[in-house]
Amino acid sequence: MAHEVLHPCIFLDLFVQVRQTSRTKFCFLFFLVSFGINRASFTNTSDDQLLYLGFTGANLITDDTTVVTSNGLLELTNGTVNRKGHAFYPSPLHFRKSHNYKVHSFSVSFVFAIRSSYPRMSLHGLAFVVSPSTNFSNALANQYLGFLNSQNKGKASNYILAIEFDTVLNIEFEDIDNNHVGIDINDLHSVKSHSAGYYDDRNSSFQNMSLISGDPMQAWVDYNGEDKKISVTMAPIKMAKPTRPLISMSYDLSTVLKEPSYIGFSASTGAADSRHYILGWSFGMNNLAPMININKLPKLPYQGSNPRSKLLAITLPIASATFVILLCSVFIIIVRRRLRYAELKEDWEVEFGPHRFSYKDLFHATHGFDNKHLLGAGGFGKVYKGVLPSSKLEVAVKRVSHESRQGMKEFVAEVVSIGRIRHRNIVQLLGYCRRKGELLLVYDYMKNGSLDIYLYNDELKPTLSWDQRFRIIKGIASGLFYLHDKWEKVVIHRDIKASNVLLDTEMNGRLGDFGLARLYDHGTDLQTTHVVGTMGYLAPELVCTGKASPLTDVFAFGAFLLEVTCGQRPVKHSSQDNPGVLVDWVLEHWQKGLLTNTVDARLQGDYNIDEACSVLKLGLLCSHPFTNMRPNMQQVMQYLDGDVPLPELTHMDMSFNIVSLMQDEGFNPYTLSYPPSGTSIGTISNISGGR
Ligand SMILES: Nc1ncnc2c1ncn2[C@@H]1O[C@H](COP(=O)(O)OP(=O)(O)OP(=O)(O)O)[C@@H](O)[C@H]1O
Ligand SMILES: *[C@@H]1O[C@H](CO)[C@@H](O)[C@H](O)[C@H]1NC(C)=O
Ligand SMILES: *[C@@H]1O[C@H](CO)[C@@H](O)[C@H](O)[C@H]1NC(C)=O
Repeated sequence: MAHEVLHPCIFLDLFVQVRQTSRTKFCFLFFLVSFGINRASFTNTSDDQLLYLGFTGANLITDDTTVVTSNGLLELTNGTVNRKGHAFYPSPLHFRKSHNYKVHSFSVSFVFAIRSSYPRMSLHGLAFVVSPSTNFSNALANQYLGFLNSQNKGKASNYILAIEFDTVLNIEFEDIDNNHVGIDINDLHSVKSHSAGYYDDRNSSFQNMSLISGDPMQAWVDYNGEDKKISVTMAPIKMAKPTRPLISMSYDLSTVLKEPSYIGFSASTGAADSRHYILGWSFGMNNLAPMININKLPKLPYQGSNPRSKLLAITLPIASATFVILLCSVFIIIVRRRLRYAELKEDWEVEFGPHRFSYKDLFHATHGFDNKHLLGAGGFGKVYKGVLPSSKLEVAVKRVSHESRQGMKEFVAEVVSIGRIRHRNIVQLLGYCRRKGELLLVYDYMKNGSLDIYLYNDELKPTLSWDQRFRIIKGIASGLFYLHDKWEKVVIHRDIKASNVLLDTEMNGRLGDFGLARLYDHGTDLQTTHVVGTMGYLAPELVCTGKASPLTDVFAFGAFLLEVTCGQRPVKHSSQDNPGVLVDWVLEHWQKGLLTNTVDARLQGDYNIDEACSVLKLGLLCSHPFTNMRPNMQQVMQYLDGDVPLPELTHMDMSFNIVSLMQDEGFNPYTLSYPPSGTSIGTISNISGGR
């Protein structure tokens, strides 16, 4: 009578022994099977069935390399060379009623797979074994499939039946090939064998199968005790059992098997690191072996993770590591480039596209804004010399820091608009670029630098002759005239001064630095803004009202005329005998009739007195505190060209003093004369302020 131990377990492993005599119990067991409850039972009676769908928790006699993997595969050999492995049902089975009786009918079914790291070789194979003992310690791990050795092979005292799945052609045993199935009685010299495969049910044709394909396949062994016939069948895993067996022969196993005998598996590796797996196993004594539900079997390891060649095993990790490193570095490079060359771009800028420079180009043009390429620094930012990578054009790049603000769109529109101005006395603005907190303006590069260096820095540059000065004055007048009257819009420069006058290779004066300029459409009201400009060039009404107009430019131009002729800055550090503002100083001399005393001493008297005097007088007129006294740029041009004589200045007209005027406005040019070099005051936020 059976005694039973029931314990719950989850689906994987099912081992069932059924006593067919009890129908209700049979049904109960199928209930257990289908609900995944593991039932371990033991019986001495002969009519038994057993079923393993995976081997997790299975009680088997195993030795050497044999283990049950974590997912339930029975791994007879584990990929180590010269190893054997065995797994046997723990208790021996009674194959006959008693010693003198014939062997019962029985049937076996199992699903197995053979894996090897070599694509076309695997050693040695596996076998289903019926044996009176489970001690195979004396068996060899090579050609004897792990259950015999050279001493005991062929001896009737072995009492062994084995169904071999042999992957080696062994001449000693007269093997037919290296991929065959054989019935072995006490010996590895098969009684009958056949190449692995099956007979197709549809047309009876033989279909080859490769034992070492690595794929799971199913085998059936059936013994009929009445007819004394043994047959072996195999098929791919998804296929039903073919009706025609692969091998079939008559043999009375009563002459072979001892009572009782164990059933199980044996495998060996020899010189190859093969793995022999059993996925599922069923057995029936006087019964059919229960059907093996393929879907409930454990999964074999993924073939890809079982590298097929040593070379691949080494190169694959290296290659993938290299690939990952490469990917990471590319990513880092891209991110770094993104950050380094990051720009600010908005939708409204699309129309200005052609005037927009890429930050990357400007970065490379100036060698990363290297100080070696620094041309100078003004009130708004540093100016760098650069060579555009594509066109090899020499440019000056002005780097202005700014906070993002609403006026930007208008400002860029102005920049682009100014960029269209072409005049021989105007430094061309080529375009712009925007980054976070930064605006870059790109100008034509002027080889001979700015005028103030020639006027005030004798060590660096030679003094300019009167002719050169007069030419520059006329050029700047013509440029300013163009901005005020000839261009499609009134452009007010706002920051005329010697340091914003640049000299080209022919020593022509060119108006530069449009960073501060504001545009006005013809006819519209002048707009209020913060004071922007440079001390000494600022018209009194501009200081007072903050309104820039063409006439405030004329005022600054007047200061510039005096500056160039006298070779002195419009505002100087005050001293007792020298008033701080150049206009007042020249005016005093004019009133005393000593105008020529104000002309730059460095000319050493070598100048045209008429020209110099009329330039000085024109300078005073332009810098007149009353706007209605100032000429416009067209008149200035006519006076300079000598087409129209300069109006006679009366002492009445010219009795003013800029310093006291400014002081009346609450504006002290002495205290505000710093910085002395005449850098613009105001910040870029003033440019478009007040809108
Ligand atoms: N297009 C250019 N070509 C050659 N050199 C230039 C060019 N633009 C400017 N520079 C040089 O860079 C220096 C600085 O110019 P920037 O206009 O910024 O300063 P600034 O005129 O002295 O002061 P501010 O910004 O107050 O007008 C100039 O003195 C000049 O020498
Ligand atoms: C295989 O099993 C043997 C015996 O248990 C063990 O020594 C060896 O380390 C195992 N090899 C692998 C690759 O698991
Ligand atoms: C101005 O530039 C030209 C060309 O670069 C040069 O030949 C000339 O000497 C320069 N003039 C002065 C005054 O530096």
